[in-house]
Amino acid sequence: MRIAMIGTGYVGLVSGACFSEFGHHVTCVDKDASKIARLEKGEIPIYEPGLDKLVADNVQDHRLDFTTTLADSVKTADAVFIAVGTPTRRGDGHADLSYVYAAAKEIADAIDGYTVVVTKSTVPVGTGREVAKIIAETRQDLKEGTDFDVVSNPEFLREGSAINDFMRPDRVVIGTNSEKARQTMQRLYRPLYLIETPIVFTQLETSEMIKYAANTFLAAKITFINEIADLCEKVGADVHDVAKGIGLDGRIGRKFLHPGPGYGGSCFPKDTLALVKTAQDYHAPLRIIETVVDINDSRKKAMAQRIIEACGGSVAEKTIALLGLTFKPNTDDMRDSPSLDIVPALLSAGAKVRAFDPEGMQEAQKLLPAIDYGKNAYETMEEADALVIVTEWNEFRALDLERVKDLLKTPLMIDLRNIYNPEEMVSLGFDYSCIGRPLRALMPQD
Ligand SMILES: NC(=O)c1ccc[n+]([C@@H]2O[C@H](COP(=O)([O-])OP(=O)(O)OC[C@H]3O[C@@H](n4cnc5c(N)ncnc54)[C@H](O)[C@@H]3O)[C@@H](O)[C@H]2O)c1
Repeated sequence: MRIAMIGTGYVGLVSGACFSEFGHHVTCVDKDASKIARLEKGEIPIYEPGLDKLVADNVQDHRLDFTTTLADSVKTADAVFIAVGTPTRRGDGHADLSYVYAAAKEIADAIDGYTVVVTKSTVPVGTGREVAKIIAETRQDLKEGTDFDVVSNPEFLREGSAINDFMRPDRVVIGTNSEKARQTMQRLYRPLYLIETPIVFTQLETSEMIKYAANTFLAAKITFINEIADLCEKVGADVHDVAKGIGLDGRIGRKFLHPGPGYGGSCFPKDTLALVKTAQDYHAPLRIIETVVDINDSRKKAMAQRIIEACGGSVAEKTIALLGLTFKPNTDDMRDSPSLDIVPALLSAGAKVRAFDPEGMQEAQKLLPAIDYGKNAYETMEEADALVIVTEWNEFRALDLERVKDLLKTPLMIDLRNIYNPEEMVSLGFDYSCIGRPLRALMPQD
């Protein structure tokens, strides 16, 4: 089958490469000419483990190519996926659908023969219907059901493990009211049928809702354990043991119970906000998600204060070394990363900040120009007054702690990801602070 993937970002490029690996012919389209030029030269514009090889193999086998011209690829496609961004609309928190609608118009102009138009972007309920309307209005010769159908097929991949998530997903969700479109989607996902992946077929609107319900639930789960962690600190309990103790209950599950500096990234912050706005528009407010959004925003801001307190109440003239800037490991994505709240707050409290991230530095330098960047973890912490772990990259999990202690001016580590063992850190002579694991909980109570 032939696929046109409109938008060649984190989702479009991974999905396009994976569909070509399934054996389909995929053309990835992007209006960003520099991105397409790099891809044509064999360069991958984002960091995603394994993506370079997957792309190279499929380009070599002539199943994957790249273009800035949408029309040619749409004309010959059985299915056109819209995988453009849906960021927060400036000013009001709704999802900005201008990229989706612009793509829908361009697709309409190019449709030639029955085409399934699939929204893979995360889009609010009603967007699929609107896309169908735009296509029908742009090309009055086209009839929905005969010349085209619109399907919702939200993506659940996670950056950092995106290829595996796409190739072996927990489930695939497909929303369509058309039997013909359903058959096309079944053929596209045939390799996943063969490995017995659950495929959930729903109405269009339900599928759109599933994506937001999933993301906001996960954001709420993280926020829940973050608040429990704060309480653990006060009462002398260990949040890791609490997470294990509750997570073993099958109704709760162990995943997404790791406390930290608050969720960030390209999805949770904007999707929680967008669902809150949709719910308000329909006079069915989601008070639980409104609260999650508030708590998470203030948590990210509070992290700088936590660092300042660990530094004795002031960071003025102190050098703070940060390890990790991206919102999570194994990606170069800096969107809504907690570091974007932490760094400016430290700077305005008078600190000098030096930072290192294995893959995110290029993007970070654009967003955080007023700080110094180290070449590696050890160089970054030289003569620093405190070391802060912001993102739990594997290479930060096994630092040579004696060397760390020697390099730091004072042996103070603030571990916002709980990757070190408090007992060990204390016994090595560190002043160690982490989240939800008070040192008191380690000591025998009298
Ligand atoms: N990033 C993730 O982990 C993830 C996971 C699941 C779902 N999503 C959703 O997928 C969508 C895409 O996210 P992303 O992170 O890949 O975004 P992204 O910003 O990385 O990529 C979007 C791309 O679309 C291109 N584009 C915009 N308008 C276009 C047009 N008319 N024609 C051609 N190209 C166009 C942009 O140039 C950009 O390269 C969003 O709705 C997001 O919420 C993202």
